[in-house]
Amino acid sequence: MLAVKTIDEVRRVVHPAKQGGKRVGLVPTMGALHEGHLSLVHAAKSECDVVVVSIFVNPIQFGPNEDFEKYPRPIEKDLELCRQAGVDVVFYPEVQEMYPRELLTTVRVSKMTQTLCGKSRPTHFEGVTTVVTKLFNVVGPDFAYFGQKDAQQALVLRRMTADLDVPVTIRICPTIREESGLAKSSRNQYLNDDQRVQATSLSRALKEAVSLIKSGKKETSELIGAMETIIKTAGPCRIDYISVNDLETLEEVSRVQKPVVIALAVNIGPARLIDNIMVDAEGNEIIMFGRNVV
Ligand code: PAF
Repeated sequence: MLAVKTIDEVRRVVHPAKQGGKRVGLVPTMGALHEGHLSLVHAAKSECDVVVVSIFVNPIQFGPNEDFEKYPRPIEKDLELCRQAGVDVVFYPEVQEMYPRELLTTVRVSKMTQTLCGKSRPTHFEGVTTVVTKLFNVVGPDFAYFGQKDAQQALVLRRMTADLDVPVTIRICPTIREESGLAKSSRNQYLNDDQRVQATSLSRALKEAVSLIKSGKKETSELIGAMETIIKTAGPCRIDYISVNDLETLEEVSRVQKPVVIALAVNIGPARLIDNIMVDAEGNEIIMFGRNVV
């Protein structure tokens, strides 16, 4: 495995491979790798000849009072995990490499970035779409892999690549969960043992919403009320949002009549946790992998 810190070095390895007809897969990450990330690597390895993982804690996607400084950066451990997973190239640039001058150009997706997490993190998605565009330009992947846990991010990136005709296929891979139902996240490290138990309320709330839909309850106010009760009963927390949104546009809906994403963001102790599930109007889970239509 090659681990490189500069754009030139990545291009020197990846571009000849592409010219030789190899399929290149990119797994963009911010490091602190866990099984969720590794599942993206496995998906990439299953359909690409060359797998590149980027590890970059992207400053421009963090708000002023967010966790940029304290975000975990266990680079040696991450490199070892990549090596064991059979990654071909790790690109782990410094901030200066990615942003060597004042950034005057950004990529912004409208509407879809203003709901859900976009309400409390108004600059977040512009930071994500900008850095991912840069990574696409550096690596030139045929496929790029994102986790469904960050559903809004994945759908926004899929829309961005469609709108801008970026020649890459976005793969949205299933959320990986602990046995307790807790979605794997680098930010779970911030939780103590009690908070970790409390955090299982997110996936329990989502399950409850799905079973209500299956029993014919389609009013989102009723679903949100039931989820809120589960979250609040579990312990002290601050709910950022619990929301039911159209799966394509990400607009809030008042009834479940089409495919939706049921999503929530909850602050438990020092961690802001997000989770979601995608279902059709009957409550059947929707698997996004392979659905590339915007
Ligand atoms: O999901 C993440 O880890 C980040 O938002 C991403 C896609 C790597 C962009 O910095």
